Amino acid sequence: MPNRLSVAPSARRLTNSLRDIGYSFESAVADLVDNSVAAGADQITIEIHFEGRGSYLTIADNGAGMHDDHINEAMRFGSRREYDDGDLGRYGLGLKTASLSQCRRLEVVSRGNRLSSPVARAIDLDFIQAVDDWVTLDISEEPEALAAASLIKGNSGSVVVWRKLDRLLPAKSPEGGWARRRIEGLGPKLEAHLSMVFHRFLSGEAGTKISISVNDVDLEPWDPFCRDEAAAETLDVDEFEIEHGEVSDTVTLRRYLLPPREDFSSREAFEQASGPEKWNRQQGLYIYRANRLVQWGGWAGIRTIDEHTKSARASLDFGTKLDEAFNINVAKMRVNLPGQLRKMMTRPINELCIAADAAYRRSSPRIVTEISEAPKKPFALGGDESGAAIGLALRTAAARTGNFEALEAISSLIRSEMPELARHLGFD
Ligand SMILES: Nc1ncnc2c1ncn2[C@@H]1O[C@H](COP(=O)(O)OP(=O)(O)OP(=O)(O)O)[C@@H](O)[C@H]1O
Ligand SMILES: [Mg+2]
Repeated sequence: MPNRLSVAPSARRLTNSLRDIGYSFESAVADLVDNSVAAGADQITIEIHFEGRGSYLTIADNGAGMHDDHINEAMRFGSRREYDDGDLGRYGLGLKTASLSQCRRLEVVSRGNRLSSPVARAIDLDFIQAVDDWVTLDISEEPEALAAASLIKGNSGSVVVWRKLDRLLPAKSPEGGWARRRIEGLGPKLEAHLSMVFHRFLSGEAGTKISISVNDVDLEPWDPFCRDEAAAETLDVDEFEIEHGEVSDTVTLRRYLLPPREDFSSREAFEQASGPEKWNRQQGLYIYRANRLVQWGGWAGIRTIDEHTKSARASLDFGTKLDEAFNINVAKMRVNLPGQLRKMMTRPINELCIAADAAYRRSSPRIVTEISEAPKKPFALGGDESGAAIGLALRTAAARTGNFEALEAISSLIRSEMPELARHLGFD
């Protein structure tokens, strides 16, 4: 029997390395929203406060809350607990890793019921750096914890506070106007992200309807499939049985063909449907784990994104039983499709994309017509020459009216979102 040596990780080193496991600001907040949802909350309130160096963010919920032992365990890197089927948590890490990817001090204030006093804990990276130990501070009596506790609106609930926002504030002049704009700019980006990632919870499709607000803005669900647009088409649903080790479960593929611009109920609805990354990059698979969106945009290696298939979107649903098969990452923002599934999905996805391509070809001459209305003499549709002539006419008009820079911006957008059209117009 070899000698056993216990080699504990260095808290100083590891807490620092864990800051960079791939969270963006929005995905870090989403991981905390997962915790609130898992705790049974139906009201989640997020506030971002700019106060220069003292800026902070709070996420308050009316979930089950935590008592003493529970909150101590929650602060452990690798919390020990059992998970039910469908639980959004998995690794016992998110609260710590997501928070500390954005800030140096995480505080959690929680109340298990109306009569109990709130309990509060903090993990402070500066403190851990100094003592090189996995220390959680009991801050239950501190004034800032008592102030945060007032954000718990229900009988029970929790508030997570991020302070020392070193990854969100510029290191230079965190009190200045640039820092303010940066912090204030986080709100709209976060709204778009959460409206998409939690759309089934916001609409009530996933069970209890959940409300989420960001800086007092109540989020509306963003449905990638525009199911309330009459002209959106739903194709047949496919179900696949996936086996992984001892586990087997069904995953569901639903395919949607979004209408061309002119068939949307309004211009706003069309623009809204384009999504945070816009039409081209929002095409593809939307992969849901227990109803929470974990990956979107692109075809997960089945095919590449293409201007012609930008109206094709599909949802793929899997349950937490298949977490290992899908290789979900800690930040819950990436999966790998099991090889057998990728093979089975190739045909239905290609079918969807062929339909999208056909619809694109039917509707794209109309785009060319709209643009060609500007010149006095209409160009013949189709053919490379007409596109090049329109491109030239636009360039000339832009130069003559002093709008060349604006045209440059427009053509760069067309290049990135509609490369085919850019080629056609000679903008490439
Ligand atoms: N808002 C909350 N309300 C109640 N309990 C919470 C809340 N946030 C965290 N917890 C508790 O703290 C534990 C640790 O959370 P953490 O996010 O670190 O891990 P997890 O959710 O279990 O797994 P994952 O790493 O996959 O997110 C949770 O399992 C839960 O018991
Ligand atoms: Mg979690």
